[in-house]
Amino acid sequence: MPQSATVDEAEHEKRLAAQAAAELVESGMSVGLGTGTTVAQLLDVLAGRRLRLRCVATSPRTEQAARALGLAVEEFGTIERIDLAIDGADQVSPDGWLVKGGGAAHTREKIVAASADRFVVIVDSAKPVPSLRPPVPLELLAFGLDSTLRRLRVIGPVRRRDVAPSPDGGVICDYLGPVEDPALLAGAFDAVPGVVEHGLFPPELVAEVFVGRGDMVERVPVIPRREATRPDRP
Ligand code: 5RP
Repeated sequence: MPQSATVDEAEHEKRLAAQAAAELVESGMSVGLGTGTTVAQLLDVLAGRRLRLRCVATSPRTEQAARALGLAVEEFGTIERIDLAIDGADQVSPDGWLVKGGGAAHTREKIVAASADRFVVIVDSAKPVPSLRPPVPLELLAFGLDSTLRRLRVIGPVRRRDVAPSPDGGVICDYLGPVEDPALLAGAFDAVPGVVEHGLFPPELVAEVFVGRGDMVERVPVIPRREATRPDRP
């Protein structure tokens, strides 16, 4: 989106992306609902379609908003599979890596995305970037926090975010160092005990990105027919 774009323009683009993604949803589906302002648009559009759905929410915020709109939200444990998960993102790289967790919900979001047959990302035109940049959100276990932070700071600077703990008790931080190679960085985070989850989502998770741009929606396939490529997914 151009620097001069207004909040209204961004909201319009989010709405368009949400509307396009909502068209993938059919009655009888189980749907994973992400978190954030773009997902708020999705909830509104989905509720308006009055489909018979079983939804899983990635945050208490989304759960409350979805229920208030009349969507049926269930405990994750009661749904054996998720047909489609739809979520926003903070950044999308040209090769399909995402940075997520601006709303501190990235751990549950990643679990739901990984559990879905198809994960679709909805963003406004400010989110696609030439290369990923900090901050990268982190959720850390409260136990041993200082020790975890010391290990993480060998990778790069990390700052604790001034927000409440996650619904699972995790401490929310942001990595502020360079993000030159997302796969390498994701591996480095994964290797630190105490890191519950980080906000780098690999392209393998993502089926398609819907980008609202002006009055159009650009559909960018990341891993076409991802569901067909993972028949043995546990
Ligand atoms: C929450 C997220 C959101 O999807 C991300 O921050 C994008 O939010 P928005 O749709 O408000 O721009 O990862 O943890």
